[in-house]
Amino acid sequence: MKSDFTQRLFTEQEQDLLFEIIMSRRDVRGNRFLPKEIDQETTLKIIQAGLHGPSVGFSQPWEFVIVKNPETKQQIKASFNTENTKGADQFCEEKKDTYTNLKLEGIEEAPLNIAVFYKPKNTPVLGQTSMPNMGRYSVVCAIQNMWLMARSLNIGMGWVSILDPEKVKTILNSPKENELIGYLCFGYTDMFYDQPELELKKWDTRKPLNEVIIEEKY
Ligand SMILES: Cc1cc2nc3c(=O)[nH]c(=O)nc-3n(C[C@H](O)[C@H](O)[C@H](O)COP(=O)(O)O)c2cc1C
Repeated sequence: MKSDFTQRLFTEQEQDLLFEIIMSRRDVRGNRFLPKEIDQETTLKIIQAGLHGPSVGFSQPWEFVIVKNPETKQQIKASFNTENTKGADQFCEEKKDTYTNLKLEGIEEAPLNIAVFYKPKNTPVLGQTSMPNMGRYSVVCAIQNMWLMARSLNIGMGWVSILDPEKVKTILNSPKENELIGYLCFGYTDMFYDQPELELKKWDTRKPLNEVIIEEKY
């Protein structure tokens, strides 16, 4: 894309709009997805938003696997089921009850899944010479752009991390060196919650500003 926008100054109304999109972004799961297809142009727009995320040394260390095939989704879902059972066992009895009642993915309900991979370089990356995780964090930046772009298109996204990454790699024939960063489910929704579903369902509460800001030093 050409950089015609560099001199653009945003109006107060536009600033409010971005804030509203940020505040209305939600993690969307299978209980909310509609079966309506997401067309190719819209899919590419979401990925394009990812491509314009920041990346360490402009390394752009990402690859996106578009998954729509029901059989592939079924295989991914099987990995979720295994990992979710193991996951539930890690919580105390009281939390485990709540956990098992939560819907924590929308792999099969979402018409579009995108697996986002980190593709490491085998030569030094500017900016990544001291902190090797920076490439992975760059991929997360791309994912957040996709999440917000999708929300602005009234499309929900859910991030599924209760998966065996090696199984997902095998299912998707991923090159050995690639690492799965995010398995994302996209779909139109019947509604967006106005607060995190995990907050609504009393799993946790949002931290206030004063709990997370430290002035000058710890
Ligand atoms: C790295 C990451 C992994 C996540 N993995 C899952 C997941 O496996 N299943 C799930 O239901 N939600 C997952 N989420 C969504 C979070 O639960 C959600 O972002 C959080 O509860 C706040 O809700 P909100 O995104 O609607 O504001 C993940 C989010 C992030 C950032």
